[in-house]
Amino acid sequence: MILLKSPQEISKMEKANRIVAEILEEVKERVRPGVETRELDELAEQGCRRHRVEPAFKGYRGYPSCICISVNEEIVHGIPGPRVIKEGDLVSLDFGVRYDGYYGDAALTVPVGEVSPKARDLLAATAESLDAAIAQVRVGARLTNISHAVQTVVEGHGFAVIREFVGHGIGRSLHEDPQIPNFGPPGRGPVLQAGMTLAIEPMTCSGSWRVRILADGWTAVTQDGSLAAHFEHTVALTDNGVRVLSRL
Ligand code: MF3
Ligand code: CO
Repeated sequence: MILLKSPQEISKMEKANRIVAEILEEVKERVRPGVETRELDELAEQGCRRHRVEPAFKGYRGYPSCICISVNEEIVHGIPGPRVIKEGDLVSLDFGVRYDGYYGDAALTVPVGEVSPKARDLLAATAESLDAAIAQVRVGARLTNISHAVQTVVEGHGFAVIREFVGHGIGRSLHEDPQIPNFGPPGRGPVLQAGMTLAIEPMTCSGSWRVRILADGWTAVTQDGSLAAHFEHTVALTDNGVRVLSRL
């Protein structure tokens, strides 16, 4: 069941997502060679305290940290720790908060210094696929138009879409219906309506889309060790069109 939000609810979600975007921006600025990923988690945690919001991921199904940090072949759900970021890394940051009963959720991938041309292309293609997906969010369109747009852009650049993980509805819960796959034919699934709030999150890689979970029970990596990227925005569909809530 897809829960439609009132304009009042959407404005609360806008506040939650604005805080997500601000904290993500702050963490992104600190991503540089020599920093430990746990320092970035600490920064996200301080941001939550300062904004008086609850981190959305900590404790979610036992996830231990505020933010997910996934480096290079890590796709999503990387757990911050003593790992030291180095020049050339691709660092995916995924972060969410709860504010006034509503969730915000967003992700981005940061290149550390000079990265390979392939890495740069992967980032550009993944960001472009998210924009293309958001452009499909219109009243009366079908949900899988979003999925198809992501796949078309990503594969058009010669990259692959991860199939194990999906985007999702979001609101009073971090994960609501519908699930939003990042691949598949267009024209299927529910008809998009004003009041829907969706977290759209293409996860991609430069090789095969096969995934493996590390022994920590969380970190998803590409089986072939190829590079991965992840961008996510929470958007609201209103009578005036789509609003990207997690953009600064
Ligand atoms: N953006 C991810 C999601 O929507 C983040 C969840 S990480 C978890 O699933 F730790 F909370 F599981
Ligand atoms: Co999400």
